[in-house]
Amino acid sequence: MSTPPTQETLRAALRDIVDPASGQNVVAAGLVEAIEVRGGLVHVALLTDRAHAAAMEPVRRDVERRLAQEPGVMNVTAVLTAHKPQPEPAAPQGRPRLLTDVGAVIAVASGKGGVGKSTVAVNLAVALARMGLRTGLLDADIYGPSLPRMLGLNRKPELRGDRVLPLPAWGLQAMSIGFLVDEETAMIWRGPMVMGALEQMMGQVEWGRLDVMIVDMPPGTGDAQLTMAQRVALAGAVIVSTPQDVALADARRGVRMFERTRVPVLGLVENMSFFCCPECGHRAEIFGHGGAKAEAHRLGVEFLGEVPLLPDIRSSCDAGEPIAAAAPESAAAQAFAAIAARVWAKIGAAKPAAGPRIVVS
Ligand SMILES: Nc1ncnc2c1ncn2[C@@H]1O[C@H](COP(=O)(O)OP(=O)(O)OP(=O)(O)O)[C@@H](O)[C@H]1O
Ligand SMILES: [Mg+2]
Repeated sequence: MSTPPTQETLRAALRDIVDPASGQNVVAAGLVEAIEVRGGLVHVALLTDRAHAAAMEPVRRDVERRLAQEPGVMNVTAVLTAHKPQPEPAAPQGRPRLLTDVGAVIAVASGKGGVGKSTVAVNLAVALARMGLRTGLLDADIYGPSLPRMLGLNRKPELRGDRVLPLPAWGLQAMSIGFLVDEETAMIWRGPMVMGALEQMMGQVEWGRLDVMIVDMPPGTGDAQLTMAQRVALAGAVIVSTPQDVALADARRGVRMFERTRVPVLGLVENMSFFCCPECGHRAEIFGHGGAKAEAHRLGVEFLGEVPLLPDIRSSCDAGEPIAAAAPESAAAQAFAAIAARVWAKIGAAKPAAGPRIVVS
């Protein structure tokens, strides 16, 4: 007798099935509510609402047919279950959503620390601003804020009444706990205070109308991630990974986390993709190469592009001059510009810019 299937293998198989409403696979679209496996018997619950139930029926049948092909599966039943009325996860009772004046809030995240989230977030934000978009950059890393160093900002923001003005830099509006308190103070804060600080940086900062905001997420899947998922209608998440296997496993966790909270994963960026020798231009694939692309394919999310490992990227970050602004013609800046254009094409297509818009019928 063959070994029973696992949730993991079944979930992977379901990535072959496309949700016609979103164009994404049913897993990425967040439609797979539950998979139960008992021996060779498989039960799948697919989320839908009444309006889409008829359209989902062929998808339901496809799911049954697809899973029946998996080794060890004897019988499959797929059912449609009602969508919860609120988009998940709902804002805690009585607390309004934050950042409602921002056209699209995009989280830059990873499952693991040190893969270059902040570097990607800063340069992606600069590249979006260079496209003419009103762009904000929020540092959601309360314990280890990066923006003061990476943007070269060490002054305190101004107050207007009880509201804080973001600091302008490199064509962006930026806010970080590091602008407000010193690093040691931030380090000793714990869970509830992290949430409070993050909420204040969204709710009490005078961001004004923005087309797009990039949020530099802290590593892992903790309080800040929960706060963002609960309090902000995120337009999507960009997951950063390095090409190594171990980092990719973490990227997978990052993708899952956003799928669980129904935040669309815009795609995967491979950072430190290859080493480009500044002397001779030789390209060395230190960590292997293309791992993130293959992983994106496996996870059913888009591969948004690769960023080379370049001493200039690090030194420009350390000098507080993001390379996307300091050397816009460089290969690194071009890589960020291409990723920004791709991200905006995905978001802009779905979301109108903030502010009044003329509707042409
Ligand atoms: N493509 C790159 N080329 C060269 N150096 C890079 C590149 N990307 C990131 N770095 C460097 O790697 C270090 C870690 O990057 P960064 O701080 O952006 O990572 P992170 O994922 O935000 O880390 P954390 O999880 O601590 O928030 C920094 O010194 C940064 O300058
Ligand atoms: Mg960081």
